[in-house]
Amino acid sequence: MKKYKIVLLSGDGIGPEISEVSKKVLKKLSKNHNFDIEIIEKLFGGIAYEKYGTPAPDETLDQCKKSDAVLLACVGDIKYDSLARELRPESGLLKLRSALNLFANIRPVKIRKSLLDASSLKKEIVEHVDLIVVRELIGGIYFGKPRGHITNTKIPKAFNTMVYDSNEIERITEIAIKIANQRNKKICSVDKSNVLEVSQLWRDTVLNITSKDKNISLSNMYVDNAAMQLVRDPGQFDVILTSNLFGDILSDLAAMLTGSIGMLPSASLNNNGPGVFEPVHGSAPDIAGKNIANPIAMLLSASMMLKIGLNEEEAAENLETAIDKVLSKGFRTADLADGSTEVLSCSEIGDKIINEI
Ligand code: NAI
Ligand code: MG
Repeated sequence: MKKYKIVLLSGDGIGPEISEVSKKVLKKLSKNHNFDIEIIEKLFGGIAYEKYGTPAPDETLDQCKKSDAVLLACVGDIKYDSLARELRPESGLLKLRSALNLFANIRPVKIRKSLLDASSLKKEIVEHVDLIVVRELIGGIYFGKPRGHITNTKIPKAFNTMVYDSNEIERITEIAIKIANQRNKKICSVDKSNVLEVSQLWRDTVLNITSKDKNISLSNMYVDNAAMQLVRDPGQFDVILTSNLFGDILSDLAAMLTGSIGMLPSASLNNNGPGVFEPVHGSAPDIAGKNIANPIAMLLSASMMLKIGLNEEEAAENLETAIDKVLSKGFRTADLADGSTEVLSCSEIGDKIINEI
């Protein structure tokens, strides 16, 4: 029997609620598909800060490095907002990505048939949406140095640095090419090269690397236009390749096409070593502790983990089919409720999905 060791980081906010559902789902899948999964739970984010004084303790990071994959819920809460930046839960996230060298963030945006009416856009506009955002995750302005505050001036100033070297752009482009080759072979690279030097290097490097693969058709788009096009005609996109900051913003925008940010999974990968699989959403402090969160983004992340991280393709398919069945029967969590569907709690919809597995 195949044996896997995964680390589960429940984090804060709605994290523990959606993690509980994910654990049960993984246990059921392992039974049905004949593999053994050891789920090692570790503290991460605000909860870890409270116990150890840091959001990403070394012990947690070491366990993650030794695992087959990491499943992460979400972190961040207003109660940590007053902490120094490096002690905040979100800094733990950046530290984890950096420690595991997770330079590639993959965010599939797919409209599930039974949710066509849940989108904030018209059905005709979203029905053909099936795209993947490939976002560079450990470079760019979130990591660039120097950064900081200048306080000895007349008026306070602050600054960040947006920096990429061509190697960083090359390796994320290669990931986008690999994904595009499994799909429609279309890449749209998004930048702001009309204004930013770093984007000029981005554009030149992407062109250089993609031109080596004759199957790939490459287009370029400025980020402001890309935001507009994602709302105007999202069906035109297949693989969107972009940097850390632009990818962060565009993938939240793209997420809403699917009806709720509670539906959007992601995988953060490197070329060797465990990946981190996590929903795109944050810790949703406004609904935490109420058992009303949508666990599906985390379940779809678990499905990506099964598929990409553990090679358990059939189990992943089983899970996705179970989710679709529950949605098509009209069951929804509150974020997707439209008056004509039955609203279930986080744990209730989890149980429905488990029953369909
Ligand atoms: P958020 O994604 O937590 O919430 C935005 C809105 O979406 C809220 O109204 C929330 O209730 C709703 N929402 C999010 N996930 C949901 C789900 N599964 N089911 C139903 N509704 C859901 O983003 P926000 O409010 O900007 O950030 C809250 C905290 O999360 C902040 O501390 C932020 O830094 C952190 N954050 C953490 C991330 C992570 O752990 N990967 C990513 C984004 C934000
Ligand atoms: Mg974000």
